[in-house]
Amino acid sequence: MCNSCLPRIPSDVDKMEAFAGQMISMLNQSALGNMVSIGHRTSLFDVLDTLEAATSTQIAKSAGLNERYVREWLGAMVSGKIVDYDPENNTYMLPAENALFLTRKSNEKNMAAIASILPIWSSVEDKIVGCFEKGGGVPYSEYGRFYEVMGEISNANVGVNLIDNILTKKPELMYQLKNGISVLDIGCGDGKILMELAKAFPNSQFTGIDLCKAPVESAKSHSAALKLNNIEFLEGDVLQHDFKSKFDFITTFDVIHDLAFPAKVLTKIFQLLKGDGQYLMMDIKASSQLENNKEHPFAPFLYTASTLHCMSVSLAQGGMGLGTVWGVEKANEMLTEAGFSKVEMESYEHDMLNSYYFCSK
Ligand SMILES: C[S@@+](CC[C@H](N)C(=O)[O-])C[C@H]1O[C@@H](n2cnc3c(N)ncnc32)[C@H](O)[C@@H]1O
Repeated sequence: MCNSCLPRIPSDVDKMEAFAGQMISMLNQSALGNMVSIGHRTSLFDVLDTLEAATSTQIAKSAGLNERYVREWLGAMVSGKIVDYDPENNTYMLPAENALFLTRKSNEKNMAAIASILPIWSSVEDKIVGCFEKGGGVPYSEYGRFYEVMGEISNANVGVNLIDNILTKKPELMYQLKNGISVLDIGCGDGKILMELAKAFPNSQFTGIDLCKAPVESAKSHSAALKLNNIEFLEGDVLQHDFKSKFDFITTFDVIHDLAFPAKVLTKIFQLLKGDGQYLMMDIKASSQLENNKEHPFAPFLYTASTLHCMSVSLAQGGMGLGTVWGVEKANEMLTEAGFSKVEMESYEHDMLNSYYFCSK
């Protein structure tokens, strides 16, 4: 009898029971992820953060929401150990320790905002399953609210911290930005990060380019509402666009691993930079080797992001499908291949997910 015909009997009962527990926890935590997303979108966490112990009726009234839905959601929050419950008084309370990771005012610590990307990934599951069978990918246009959610997450992380916690550590660059330089952000999405820079450095000129129409339209109307006259947004593929001049400072935030042709874009960035210009690439902090990522606190999340979005949008364009977890080793290799002779990789305490590469010619 061949080995594959033999029934596979688990020999380690402790291991088997531990794994069963892990699977139950997985089901509960993934279900909870969807409820945390709803808590963010409905602002229920922000509302709970303003209340003392309150009944579901009081919470629903404060949030302007339907009580029956709020009460059921609270059931998931209490059993998921996110919200405390007092059965004697029928009241609920969000502990301050938990609120820190669930409310808008927490900016980059707000994991509820990050959770709101989970239903967007799930919404393309049928198409991704089709790709498992036939190859190819799912185009950006299928991802519904992706830009809105991505813009909110990256603004809460990068937009809020870029100047005060990152650029201030680069006095020469700060000096140039204050005096007036040209800046290009590639894959700018809905442009929130670039608008923060344009507001802070009125003497500099900012250009954002993105492949997709929806985020560029949003960026244009938002910057017009802010009356920013030192910023422009272009819709198009950075590889096809004919830029009329070179730039002093080029940025990409969470973009290179998404691209169809990342090596070509890095080479174009090198060509578009002035001789003494700088390129800042923010991208996922992980290793290129799977075995080094086993203890990475976000590894399953990142490989999932890749399968359900980043790798797939690249493959949908006939691209290489680099993947979210391309890793720092591969990133350094590709930056060197693009021509950069100096690459300084930095990490910041406020950002567990990303590495920041300051590159020059
Ligand atoms: C993960 S999103 C990041 C968006 C933005 N930088 C942020 O942090 O919110 C990647 C962006 O790259 C854009 N993109 C992908 N390929 C591109 C290309 N060839 N040229 C310009 N933009 C591109 C996508 O449309 C998408 O908005």
